[in-house]
Amino acid sequence: MLQLTRSVSWQALTRLGEVTRNDRIRDYFAADPKRFEKMSLRVGGLFLDYSKHHISDEVMEALVELAEHSALVQRRAQMFSGDIINVTENRPVLHTALRSQTNTPVIVDGKDVMPEIHKTREQIRAFSEAVRSGEWKGFDGQRIRDVVNIGIGGSDLGPNMACRALLKHRHPEINFHFVSNVDGNHIQKVLKRLDPATTLFIVSTKTFSTQETLLNAKTARRWFLEHAGQDADVGAHFVAASTNRKAAKEFGIREENVFEFWAWVGGRYSMWSSIGLPIALSIGYEGFMELLEGAHEMDQHFINAPMAENMPVLMALIGIWYINFMGAETQAIVPYDQALHQLPAFLQQLDMESNGKSVDIFGRPVDYKTGPIVWGETGSNGQHAFFQLLHQGTRYVPIDFIASLKPEPGTEEHHFALITNMLAQANAFMEGSQDGSNLDPHYNCPGNRPSSTLLLDEMTPRNLGALIALYEHKVFVQGVIWNINSFDQWGVQLGKRIAGEISARIDTDVKAFDPSTQGLLALVREHF
Ligand code: F6P
Repeated sequence: MLQLTRSVSWQALTRLGEVTRNDRIRDYFAADPKRFEKMSLRVGGLFLDYSKHHISDEVMEALVELAEHSALVQRRAQMFSGDIINVTENRPVLHTALRSQTNTPVIVDGKDVMPEIHKTREQIRAFSEAVRSGEWKGFDGQRIRDVVNIGIGGSDLGPNMACRALLKHRHPEINFHFVSNVDGNHIQKVLKRLDPATTLFIVSTKTFSTQETLLNAKTARRWFLEHAGQDADVGAHFVAASTNRKAAKEFGIREENVFEFWAWVGGRYSMWSSIGLPIALSIGYEGFMELLEGAHEMDQHFINAPMAENMPVLMALIGIWYINFMGAETQAIVPYDQALHQLPAFLQQLDMESNGKSVDIFGRPVDYKTGPIVWGETGSNGQHAFFQLLHQGTRYVPIDFIASLKPEPGTEEHHFALITNMLAQANAFMEGSQDGSNLDPHYNCPGNRPSSTLLLDEMTPRNLGALIALYEHKVFVQGVIWNINSFDQWGVQLGKRIAGEISARIDTDVKAFDPSTQGLLALVREHF
């Protein structure tokens, strides 16, 4: 197989990178009055403007060629049909099946997985309706008023982000809490405010073996037993979303309250599965279905649209342009929407855990950069924190601006200020301080900083679903072009293993660790 960097498209892009570097983005607009129309597109309730990029027509054509000459069409078909594309874990990758709105069979190990998906959706529907209506009772007959999701990584970030984004749709009488950190202060702070008789815990863990989640779940169960119920009552207050039924049952969760999902759902792609249970409890089953429908619509667009008009493909190619040909190291995500304040954290895991790889799918070291460092914060807060560096620092950082167009009733004035601030920033990053009236370099903003603007018509479950699926597919396309496995995370596993070894050996065998770790462990032991 030809090495990526030796391919004709890659070499053409390398040459274009050198000549384009000195172009001014604003000159592209001067040369082409139709640039905005040409470099923007709508998919359902999402509108993407990618005209403020350091990308000429020639570069765009070369990027599209790169995608066309890659294995994308084949790998996309393999993903959707359930072929094993997560080669190191020997698994298919089927989050798209979880949100499928068709009855097209998806075969894994000779069996159609769609009936099981429908069965679990039905379980989520029945349970969420019972809790939301008050029909589900705690041990002393009261309804549930607080739901605590205990999970970490993909078993926290997706539902956490979505519940916050869709807060305005939430059940008015139920509060939602997310506990992830193994730091005991996290769970204690949440428990302090709760009444065990009216609290429901969801233990969200694909494996039911993650140290942080198990420790938090045990602490929650101890708290529950100390303050209220007996062992037999645990079943009315603890449910689980897990592929590991056996371990969930051993924890005391009733068989019928284990919400199943499957090995072929990756943690960071799992909010569409029963890991999304808090979302269904918060916004209702119909809202959860709308979220899935929005994602499915994006899936259909991703499958059917030509490369040059395909939103996830375009976003992936733009990212590749900056990372591989323009020297960018990071990608900033700046939602001008307080409801999306968890989105940068969610996208950080999605992108960095997926594409933070340095060997290709055959295990050979790659000689090009892969996934970017993803970071960000909501606007307008970011303007008063890190935007200075973006305007005048030495780094070159492409930005994704994201906003919802429709204001919440009563927030019109704020919303107008929010959106105009975002547009002003995107304009300023591109144009810089070009009036030339002040020649002091300290005042000079060079501009030519690229950005995309993604607009949601409104923050609805459907549009949020489409937005998240858009980023999932962007990450997938980049992984395919870089020829890496976007669906494993062996680096994370290493840390988990060593944490286990350290706690097992701390009293007996610290010499197994490096001198620095030994020295630090000596200090730690003074406190335990
Ligand atoms: O962070 C690493 C990871 O393995 C993620 O991929 C996963 O989402 C998270 O840990 C939690 O794992 P689990 O759902 O099995 O508790």
